[in-house]
Amino acid sequence: MDYKLKNIFIAFGIIISLGVLVQSCKDKQSPGYEYMPDMYRSPSVETYGETKLSESGLSALQPVANTIPRGFNLYPYPNTNDGYTAAGEILKNPVPFSEEVLVEGKVAYGKFCVHCHGKKGEGDGTVPTNSDYPSPPSYKAALKDLSEGKMFHTLMYGKNLMGSHASQISAEDRWKIIYYVQSLQDAKRFDLMYREGDEESETTEMVLAKESNEETATNN
Ligand code: HEC
Repeated sequence: MDYKLKNIFIAFGIIISLGVLVQSCKDKQSPGYEYMPDMYRSPSVETYGETKLSESGLSALQPVANTIPRGFNLYPYPNTNDGYTAAGEILKNPVPFSEEVLVEGKVAYGKFCVHCHGKKGEGDGTVPTNSDYPSPPSYKAALKDLSEGKMFHTLMYGKNLMGSHASQISAEDRWKIIYYVQSLQDAKRFDLMYREGDEESETTEMVLAKESNEETATNN
């Protein structure tokens, strides 16, 4: 009796294992039976996955038509010669000038522009001096009278070999950089704002030189 029961168990075991084996051979891609599938297949909506909850069937939703993201600035000047000229005439720096803003502009210039335009904006950055990349024109010479609106337009769309900087630098920071570029066009340009009538007080150059000393002091 015991012996027979044992055989039945063994036979039963073999049939089940065969069944499992056959099942697992059916489709190589299939994981077979899943124990508690909820644990493998979470009911949550996956990023960039599919879902029945949206009309498009995708979890990544499109922005609502005719809307802009919070904090987004519309830029009305098209990427054409006319847009460039119009920006040059109409567009003005909306960021109020201050010593901090100029220094922040200088720091950002050191990160995003100096390798092409050079420390003093003379077109002698490490990229043109170490490669065939052409030297950008000097802010002090060829670009001496370039208006702030044209500068912003160029940062927005790029110009010839210079690429757009709109996605890397916020509009506010681009305007801060432009203050610094203007101080490179003409070192005395902002002096009046510092001196406020007092001839003895600091010049723009002195403020920026002081800042460079501080930078070197902290770097050492
Ligand atoms: C990859 C090198 C490169 C970088 C980085 C670069 N520039 Fe330029 N830039 C150029 C070149 C080349 C030109 C000349 C474009 C032309 O007129 O053909 C130029 C031109 C300009 C002009 C003159 C545009 C005009 O309207 O004539 C300005 C202003 C300027 N750059 C500012 C900047 C500022 C500010 C940054 C940093 C945020 C920057 N550039 C980063 C290469 C660069």
